[in-house]
Amino acid sequence: MESFIRTDDLSMTGGSPIIGAPLGGIVYQGIGEYAGHLDTELGVVDDSWGEFRFVRGKERQVFWTRNVWLEPFRLEFGSISEAAAALRSVQRNWAPSLFTQFRRGELIKAKLPPITDKPRSFPWLVPDAPMGAWTLLDEHTLIGSARCASPFPGGIVEFTEDKEGPPSRAYLKVQEALVRARTFPKPGERCIDAGATPGGWTWVLAGLGARVTAIDRASLDERVLAMDGVEYLKHDAFTLAPEELGPTDWLFSDVICYPERLYAWIERWLSSGLCRNFICTLKMQGEPDWETIRRFAAIQGSTVVHLCANKHELTWIRIGK
Ligand SMILES: C[S@@+](CC[C@H](N)C(=O)[O-])C[C@H]1O[C@@H](n2cnc3c(N)ncnc32)[C@H](O)[C@@H]1O
Repeated sequence: MESFIRTDDLSMTGGSPIIGAPLGGIVYQGIGEYAGHLDTELGVVDDSWGEFRFVRGKERQVFWTRNVWLEPFRLEFGSISEAAAALRSVQRNWAPSLFTQFRRGELIKAKLPPITDKPRSFPWLVPDAPMGAWTLLDEHTLIGSARCASPFPGGIVEFTEDKEGPPSRAYLKVQEALVRARTFPKPGERCIDAGATPGGWTWVLAGLGARVTAIDRASLDERVLAMDGVEYLKHDAFTLAPEELGPTDWLFSDVICYPERLYAWIERWLSSGLCRNFICTLKMQGEPDWETIRRFAAIQGSTVVHLCANKHELTWIRIGK
């Protein structure tokens, strides 16, 4: 069995040492029941293992992915210790995403520095240290990548649930989006929360000490309404012009609507210059609205991601300077 090769000539690898043989492409990890959307986005793929799709060449823009492996390599290894030593020689953090060879994978994991997969309490600042990913194809073949798009182990993050405070579980989406954005509304900053009812997102934002204007056609939960800094507007959010609502530090939207309706409103906000930071859910009905998703992603400084807490929806995040 070939033992691992480590390259320390960093000029060859764009900055990170590599082990094994570079695949010369990108690995995309699908998301359970939405894996079909990733297949639609990628079209023809060069290889496929479990939920992973490998495509040669440069990174493609895809949205329905749990994680993207940016520098994938194939490592042929003899023993469990050899596989673990190879990974450790590159960096500390490596998280497995196994779809086969579970027992062997667990044994390799046990020889790597521990990574917490316990639920996180919010707010949480994700460390900058790279989070690598790996899986096993068979007893002696590992595919991995030291650099990945997601900062979370295996692309997965969970937050400690509060079953009493928030009036809906939707609050988990805004928590995850803010953690991904690596920034949070500061005490005293103004947030507009469109489609706020029953009030999970407003509960999170007011909990951070922000002032929140919650807008919805349906009534807000009374306990949320009573929180410091919360005001409520019973209104169709999209018929309110940015100039009527006034300057705000953050605009949040979890409105159930066609993405293009939201896009039209967001365009008005962007051209008004009245808001810097945006976190909005793009809700899909049936086939994703690919054109509008791409238009959101093309807005300067944007990312469109599928959060662990998202269902058939994506989240558009744009943090201004
Ligand atoms: C998924 S729920 C929002 C959940 C909320 N983010 C939370 O954390 O509790 C979607 C909300 O959008 C509201 N909605 C739908 N169309 C709207 C519109 N045009 N303007 C304002 N709210 C709207 C609905 O009344 C509903 O309360």
